[in-house]
Amino acid sequence: MILLYFAMYSIPNMAQNNSIAQKVDSLLQLMTLEEKVGQMNQYNGFWDVTGPVPENGNAAMKYEHLKKGWVGSMLNVTGVKNVRKLQQLVVEESRLGIPLLFGQDVIHGYKTLSPIPLAEAASWDMAAIEMSARIAAEEASAVGINWTFAPMVDISRDARWGRVMEGGGEDPYLGMHIARARVKGFQGDDLSKNNTIAACAKHFAGYGFVESGKEYNTVDIGTSTLYNTVLTPFKAAVDAGVKTIMNGFNVLNGVPVTGDFRLQREILKEKWGFDGFVISDWASIGELVPHGFAEDLAQAAEIAAKAGSDMDMESSAYVTQLVELVKTGRVNESLVDDAARRILTVKYELGLFDDPYRYCNEKREKEELNRKEHHAAALEMAKKSIVLLKNEGHLLPIKKDQPKIAVIGELANDNNSPLGSWRLSSDNNSAVTVLEGLKKFSGNITYARGPKIFDPNTNFLDEISPNLTDESGLSEAVALAKTSDIVLMVLGEHGFQSGEARSRTKLGLPGLQLKLLQEVYKVNKNVVLVLLNGRPLTLEWEAKNIPAILETWQLGSQAGNAIAAALFGEINPSGKLPMTFPRNVGQIPIYYNHFSTGRPTLEPNVFWSHYSDVQNEPLFPFGFGLSYTTFAYSDLQIDSSDQNNIKVEVTITNTGDWAGEEVVQLYIHDKVASIVRPVKELKGFQKINLAPKASQKVEFHLTEKELGFYNNAYEFVVEPGTFDIMVGTSSQSGLHGSFTLN
Ligand code: BGC
Repeated sequence: MILLYFAMYSIPNMAQNNSIAQKVDSLLQLMTLEEKVGQMNQYNGFWDVTGPVPENGNAAMKYEHLKKGWVGSMLNVTGVKNVRKLQQLVVEESRLGIPLLFGQDVIHGYKTLSPIPLAEAASWDMAAIEMSARIAAEEASAVGINWTFAPMVDISRDARWGRVMEGGGEDPYLGMHIARARVKGFQGDDLSKNNTIAACAKHFAGYGFVESGKEYNTVDIGTSTLYNTVLTPFKAAVDAGVKTIMNGFNVLNGVPVTGDFRLQREILKEKWGFDGFVISDWASIGELVPHGFAEDLAQAAEIAAKAGSDMDMESSAYVTQLVELVKTGRVNESLVDDAARRILTVKYELGLFDDPYRYCNEKREKEELNRKEHHAAALEMAKKSIVLLKNEGHLLPIKKDQPKIAVIGELANDNNSPLGSWRLSSDNNSAVTVLEGLKKFSGNITYARGPKIFDPNTNFLDEISPNLTDESGLSEAVALAKTSDIVLMVLGEHGFQSGEARSRTKLGLPGLQLKLLQEVYKVNKNVVLVLLNGRPLTLEWEAKNIPAILETWQLGSQAGNAIAAALFGEINPSGKLPMTFPRNVGQIPIYYNHFSTGRPTLEPNVFWSHYSDVQNEPLFPFGFGLSYTTFAYSDLQIDSSDQNNIKVEVTITNTGDWAGEEVVQLYIHDKVASIVRPVKELKGFQKINLAPKASQKVEFHLTEKELGFYNNAYEFVVEPGTFDIMVGTSSQSGLHGSFTLN
């Protein structure tokens, strides 16, 4: 294959011993302006690659552009056969035969699905998260994909925004670790291997702060939040060597990020030294026009190219406008050269010039997908992602010998919803259901569906579906609950209720589920609420009344097996919330690392910062999660004698009867600074495993990296003064101490 490729390849100077930079430079010299601009153009697939399909008007044009070398990358073309065909078309028929990049949103797995990213974040287990991304890359690379549009590293404090399911939650420090782990998992140590793929940190930047959680909405945030919260995981991804960055749909402080010069050129490329390339979000260059930032597509292309967006996803703005813009002097050709250079470099690094069919191996395609080992790892990841929110009277774990276990709720028997959103190439209806999982542990299970919560005919606008007010199924479920020893209520959101364009203003259990739960609770108090959802929900009544609550998110292919293992005590839940659960939607945005006000606590005086109809505290705070065992924290020691390396030690003891894992969390509070600092900031965490009655000393180190922050001029500063420390089991409880930085 390799020999054949070189035989017809017309580019000189491909000698192995030349550096990639030299090869790219020589190649650039051979390229026409049209071909360089072509590298900056990405098209969507979805058509029969043996030829254009008539009903897709663009297909014929795209096909022609591919042959001319006017396309640098395709998205959503998968499968070795399809990828090979297109690659061959370009390599053999275009003038220079420059291979294509093939990208797709491989967000939490290709065929074997891991938990949704928000769920994985709840594991606080970076090795497991890295492994999950590794497996996604193994499978995706086996079907011809060499680039994933992941990880999404958008910090968000707003559960109304449907895309929180896709990210790592609300905290920049946790988000930074997750970004690193995922980039490492996808890209591995050597990008040129046929099982590693380029990663893409997205969406640069601020998308998670869309106003009122409404999809594609405006973002208006201050510099402190931008620099210290939003940018943190992106910087971590760049430092971890991420090859690409995607900008976004949103306007940030008046400028659409796709056209934001300061973000893309000044911060990302200059200040951080990012040497990969930036891809636009889907049609986001063209969207500069409706944003009111560009007059027409030509101006949109001009602005985006100048701002540093290197590749255009599906706007056709570059391929139709950029050549003319260069010829008329509106865009300097050096910008095109720079973009093309960045893109070609990634292609070289992926090894595509050595073998454009590197990712097209039928044998691998057959062997890699849905491998047993992949499912075993997905199951482990799923188990680690489960969060125990409440367990009054040790209702959980369920005793296997209970004669009558009722399982109620449509989601319990749903093999699609646990897969969550963003699972483009996985097989629908392929998850292990909760019911199937439970039946492997006990023969004493009876199921009742209850009212339907999901009507596929409503295009997912299910809250307004007439079918969802149909109470049939309710009485059967209540009757079953009445005669059972314990009732497992499997409730939450269906698989597409969160994700892109799934913003919601109501975050309670959708449809008739709360009513169902309340009716069941009237006849049986031994209720366990098993939640399947893609975002924090508002569960005030549930948290007050239901004795046991298990947050299982959407756990992917192995969901039912993991949930059953937790419910029956085969594993001990150890997840911690990566995002605050509000009491009601009015509290949003709600997050633990907020600033103090000037009137934090003047109770019972009315003039302090609070609501008059709900308390300030969330329902479940960031970092919270219980275990079947209990952990005691003691002996907090702070040694600040070395001011460059403050040592913090604490002892954790497993005081219960179960072996269990605990995520030990360290928070700091910089008490007085030149710009106000959050009341708490996560700056360290360690996951430890303790046998019953065992103790372990855990050590943290605080250096400038943890103690400093970005001021409003985007300079990293470390300021002397007193720092409070809290080490504990969540963002709301732990041991306190302090030290002074001189
Ligand atoms: C999303 C991106 C995604 C792209 C391609 C857009 O709608 O915002 O995150 O990568 O589509 O599928």
